[in-house]
Amino acid sequence: MKSINVAILGFGTVGRGTFKVLLENEKLIEARCGFKVNVKKILDINPYAIKSSGLPKRMFTSNIKDILDDPSIQIVAEVMGGIEPASTYMLKALNAKKHVVSSNKAALAENISQLKEAAKKNKVELMYEASVCGAIPVLSAIKGNLAANKFTEIRGIVNGTSNYILTQMTENGMRYEAALALAQEHGFAEADPTADVEGIDAANKICLLADLAMGYYRKPSAIKRVGISGITDQDIKDAVEKDCKIKLIAKAKLGKNGIVLSVKPELIKKDDILYNVDYEFNGITLKTDCADDVFFYGRGAGSVPTGSAVSGDIISIAKIINAKPAEKSPAKKK
Ligand code: HSE
Repeated sequence: MKSINVAILGFGTVGRGTFKVLLENEKLIEARCGFKVNVKKILDINPYAIKSSGLPKRMFTSNIKDILDDPSIQIVAEVMGGIEPASTYMLKALNAKKHVVSSNKAALAENISQLKEAAKKNKVELMYEASVCGAIPVLSAIKGNLAANKFTEIRGIVNGTSNYILTQMTENGMRYEAALALAQEHGFAEADPTADVEGIDAANKICLLADLAMGYYRKPSAIKRVGISGITDQDIKDAVEKDCKIKLIAKAKLGKNGIVLSVKPELIKKDDILYNVDYEFNGITLKTDCADDVFFYGRGAGSVPTGSAVSGDIISIAKIINAKPAEKSPAKKK
């Protein structure tokens, strides 16, 4: 069986989830993409992450050059989070003609145009399904079977942590701080949970969705956003009294004056499809001209669900590589 070598940048929640999925479903993945997917190197500087992984030390490096200069590594999975050095590493990997997969919405939303350009220039793939709504294949659907449609509105719950907090406050009367601590414990929250509770993470995701579906790009910092940190127990009670729930809603809407992107808490009524999207789950509705409304639902955060999406992109790239005719080695001179 042919094999394909992958490097994972970052062995945190998503890195470990990706490794687990690739290992546990190794045979099934091999059968589906025609390659044995082999994790050759992992970039991480955290000695605890390395020790607790139980993996051989030689698999780890703290020097990106060990990955960029290794011609046997064809796919780089960037799952380290943060804008830098992740963006620079992705650019360098693309320029070294390696395919890149990423779950890093912050880095992607900030630098998507530059990254897409580098992928195009170097004739390699850039895939980032895991960066938006965790395990839900919404980007693949936009690029794939919905590609014949014009998208007029994207509306959804795209941050698992804030949804988890709001659900715990609503359903179980939990205090905001306790619910956030639990979300962190479960590995849903970002390294700095400010990004989750202040709507920054949701803004990154709606930015990527609008770019892909509507061809409309705005820097995440230019998106109007309000988070959930100001929501009080009383606000939750008032919502319940009105037969509603408070949800953090991200939206991209095409109106008379063009496309508007926003993130803010909203009162969601019982008959709204997003009403029952609770805990770390995400839900997203796409309004289209031909397919009408399409709704996606699933786990928006968590180690293995996000690892599933990262692995899916790795498999898609392996299939593309497998479909390409093998490069002929130059005939040897006699
Ligand atoms: N912190 C993110 C969330 C992780 O809670 O949705 C998944 O992108």
